[in-house]
Amino acid sequence: MSTPSITSVQKEGKLYPPPKAFQKKAHIKSMAAYRKLYKRSYKNPASFWAKAAKELHWFKTWTKAMQWTAPNAKWFVGGKLNVSYNCLDRHLATWRRNKAAIVWEGEPGDQRTLTYQQLYNEVVRFACVLKSLGVKTGDRVAIYLPMIPEAAVAMLACARIGAPHSVVFGGFSAQALKDRILDAGATCVITADGGFRRGQIVPLKVNVDDAVKDTPGVKHVLVVRRTGRDVSMKAGRDVWLHERLAELSAQGRFSCRAEDVDSEQPLCILYTSGTTGKPKGIFHSTGGYLTHAAITTKWIFDLKDEDTFWCTADVGWVTGHTYVVYGPLAIGATTFMYEGAPNHPGPDRFWDIIERHRVNVFYTAPTAIRAFVKWGDEHPKKHDLSSLRLLGTVGEPINPEAWLWYHRVIGGARCPIVDTWWQTETGGILISPLPGATPTKPGSGTLPFPGIVPEVVRKDGTPCDANEGGYLVLKKPWPGMLRGIWGDPDRFKKQYFGDFPGIYFTGDGARRDPDGYFWIMGRVDDVINVAGHRLGTAEIESALVLHESVAESAVVGRPDDLKGSAIVAFVTLKGGRSPGADLKEQLRSHVGREIGSIAKPDEIRFTDALPKTRSGKIMRRLLRELATQGDVKGDTTTLEDFSVLEKLRAEEE
Ligand code: PRX
Repeated sequence: MSTPSITSVQKEGKLYPPPKAFQKKAHIKSMAAYRKLYKRSYKNPASFWAKAAKELHWFKTWTKAMQWTAPNAKWFVGGKLNVSYNCLDRHLATWRRNKAAIVWEGEPGDQRTLTYQQLYNEVVRFACVLKSLGVKTGDRVAIYLPMIPEAAVAMLACARIGAPHSVVFGGFSAQALKDRILDAGATCVITADGGFRRGQIVPLKVNVDDAVKDTPGVKHVLVVRRTGRDVSMKAGRDVWLHERLAELSAQGRFSCRAEDVDSEQPLCILYTSGTTGKPKGIFHSTGGYLTHAAITTKWIFDLKDEDTFWCTADVGWVTGHTYVVYGPLAIGATTFMYEGAPNHPGPDRFWDIIERHRVNVFYTAPTAIRAFVKWGDEHPKKHDLSSLRLLGTVGEPINPEAWLWYHRVIGGARCPIVDTWWQTETGGILISPLPGATPTKPGSGTLPFPGIVPEVVRKDGTPCDANEGGYLVLKKPWPGMLRGIWGDPDRFKKQYFGDFPGIYFTGDGARRDPDGYFWIMGRVDDVINVAGHRLGTAEIESALVLHESVAESAVVGRPDDLKGSAIVAFVTLKGGRSPGADLKEQLRSHVGREIGSIAKPDEIRFTDALPKTRSGKIMRRLLRELATQGDVKGDTTTLEDFSVLEKLRAEEE
């Protein structure tokens, strides 16, 4: 663990209180209300969350709200429910039956709206298709789709039959997909003939064909027709969704009841990077996860029935799970989905969408905001953004300049901004303003959500003083908390409960200011946050050394104005290989093939040797300094061979 240090983006600025007009109609209307809620929840988090869980429909109520023996938290023990029932069936008995559940726009401009009734019908039909392919409760299903309504439909259909899904981001390579299919033991893969991105077609089915060559457990590949392009279909294994639907409909009416699912049964697995080369399969439960998703969506995004909510995340990430699909649908909201790139056909695509669909609540990542700043104010200024009433950010610390731009140019200085801190592991937001209550400070996630008990501690576990940088931990379990790492309980315990026994360690550095506001200072482990996506340095290193020319590599992050962090790879070559621009490009493409484009190093530096300790550990800290500041000033006493550093410095010049 490196020691957290306060960076220049962390200066405190002015306070931004919630606008009065907003506050009056908000779910939580004042700081006094928040403080009262928080105080009560602090004394008894389980009872706070149990009250939230009662907003869901349970087939059978739980006998115990929470059962905690570190590292395992069980929520709503003995309770039975179904996520798809909560997101669909229960709304059908209300006026929401004909309300828009999903409003969607494809990159080429095609549009679809699904009401709750229509979405229910689609999910039931899809669930019948899955069953016809032999998918049963407990089976894992991999989903590798573009951002089309079928992605949400597929997730809800899996939830309906109690089959945990593992959604793999469409930007991941065939190799990364294969690793995830194998690790989860998926028996079925759902994909499409492609998706549109920046005017091109992403060849999803081709990647699946490549991936499933070596995954004997996969019995079927279900293919959604999206682009109409020709793809190869392997007889007996590959099935077109539309053809199977037609066959089933010829046999009679579609019907598929929502299974009674145990509250603790895994709903989904989401792979994320850690400090080793192997991504971790974070899995979430059913009852706890949905409770957390629903209440945070309602209070933090302050969603009203008339709102259209646009969370720009892809469903391949946790943000897409919780705030595109499950949270909004569980509370009967209208969720907006967009398939493509923010700058296609022009840099104003998002603002054009907001204007045409009258989006009210908009949630995106700082990296996107910084790109918008770079592209210029003229693009949002061309559009009427007056429908917006609340803005949000997630994924990395936002620099105050970007925050202020977002506030002024996109929010017209009238929209509160919720800077939401959370992780794949936490399932939902843990630290965030409540927009009708919390005065915000640009760059701070502000205060914990009720029921959440975070603290900033020193290495020895003692609490830090105000403004002292330390490690962000969570002292009590919460319902959206991960239930484990798929197939690896030891890694789960060691990774999250190894540094501060019995307490969850987030991997983030933070400080709390004298008002008790949290300021996230970034990762303190070997994980870098690139354009809001988490990548393990070890994962990229493992990919690099698979290349025939590479002997060894060390990857570090360096601050980047646009992406938060850029990836710098130091590479030593095998004897007889010569460095050069060609090889750099080859290595970048190689990483793209192994992991996906997001992991391609921004910079590759060839070097004769890497700085190591006497015990042979690569000193990434020195490389980070070199990549960031151009020189090494920190402690080098444990370095084994000083000449390595001298050479690296010389290469720098
Ligand atoms: O370092 C924190 C940063 O993103 C990490 C979690 O990444 P991931 O699991 O990919 O989930 C991203 C979306 C939930 C955290 O450990 N992070 C996330 N949100 C914020 C943040 N850093 C600062 N401020 C945030 N609002």
